[in-house]
Amino acid sequence: MRMVDIITDKRDGKELPQEAIEWFINEYTKGGVPDYQAAAFAMAVYFKGMTQSEAAALTFAMAASGDQLDLSEVEGVKVDKHSTGGVGDKTTLILGPIVAALGIPVAKMSGRGLGHTGGTIDKLEAFTGFQTEISQDEFIKLVNQNKIALAGQSGNLTPADKKLYSLRDVTGTVNSIPLIASSVMSKKIAAGADAIVLDVKTGSGAFMESVEEARELAGAMVDIGKSLDRKTMAVISDMNQPLGRFVGNALEVKEAIDTLNGKGPKDLHDLSVTLAAHMVVLADKAANLEEAVKLVEQVINNGEALKKMKQFIEAQGGDASSVDDSSLLLNASHLIEVTSEKDGFVSGMKASEIGRAAMTLGAGRATKDDEIDYAVGIELQKKIGDRVQAGDVLAVLHANQTDVSEASAIVREAYEYSDSEVVPEPLIHDTIV
Ligand code: URA
Repeated sequence: MRMVDIITDKRDGKELPQEAIEWFINEYTKGGVPDYQAAAFAMAVYFKGMTQSEAAALTFAMAASGDQLDLSEVEGVKVDKHSTGGVGDKTTLILGPIVAALGIPVAKMSGRGLGHTGGTIDKLEAFTGFQTEISQDEFIKLVNQNKIALAGQSGNLTPADKKLYSLRDVTGTVNSIPLIASSVMSKKIAAGADAIVLDVKTGSGAFMESVEEARELAGAMVDIGKSLDRKTMAVISDMNQPLGRFVGNALEVKEAIDTLNGKGPKDLHDLSVTLAAHMVVLADKAANLEEAVKLVEQVINNGEALKKMKQFIEAQGGDASSVDDSSLLLNASHLIEVTSEKDGFVSGMKASEIGRAAMTLGAGRATKDDEIDYAVGIELQKKIGDRVQAGDVLAVLHANQTDVSEASAIVREAYEYSDSEVVPEPLIHDTIV
């Protein structure tokens, strides 16, 4: 096979056979296809798209390009959840204990990641002593014993995706629905999921700003999952403002604990319950969504989900006393208010800017070697729809530095106002099955 033929066929809009896609991914992973040809291929896909079977073949080949987690010794349907990313999104911390408390195995591989806050692992490391460097045997033992464990991502998971994603980043080809869909799904497949619930975000703080684009991406991912015999569904949820009220690692853990205690903010509670309920349905533990919602609410109300969180943190060496008393988690040394200079109703909040402000306080990493400050972040006191008068507190910065002028200015600028009342967008825009 010759790479140039694969590129020209795609350029001319022909459907590529599975063998051609597999050959490309194998060769590219080994270094047999150079970056300039892979870039030309990505650009051809950007313009010509991919059929459902091409996207499934690309996903499968990328999933098989490196280590794949063998979860065959874990009993039950392994349901994974993936969010396309958003500011203040701490649902994984809430869903894991909920579904594990319902007897569904949660064998989660997570990354650290760059961005406004750390990834799920970084957030959990806000519990002193929490360990994610565990062997595969230990990981499987913990999942079978407690129904939940979380490990750091193997360095060799989907190497083809890693290479292709970095290349797309510098060749203007990130924003291609089939390439994004296969990139995300290849990681889920390699991590051993039997079934996948996708939370595709839409709005000013999301990758897909319009509901239409989010629907298209969700549809492509659901189609890939089904083509590869994984039960897959997607929820399209709103990211026009951060989820919940807190952005930052320990702050998000505290809010997740509050939510497991039944005392979380409504948006975070509702989205967590919805996603958890879809996971319960895919795991065949409920006949329909309504029944699943009842089961989920039950383990929140009777404290089983919170108990599961404690067991999970303890089993991986963390100090679980902070689950009972979240004030024991790291606290920042300064609380600094950001006040409004305007009157009106909050009509918009640039979620990505709130994320950027959290980063300037040290909550996230700009490069992979940066250190995270677990204690710092932002507490949003006003959200879309709230009435504000000049001088009111919009947000509180939790900082370990006294000069927070940059973060304050970014937060203040992120707020948009209207003279008339504002109704926030619905939390859930659509469900794709
Ligand atoms: N996230 C991914 O994992 N891959 C993409 O291509 C885009 C976002």
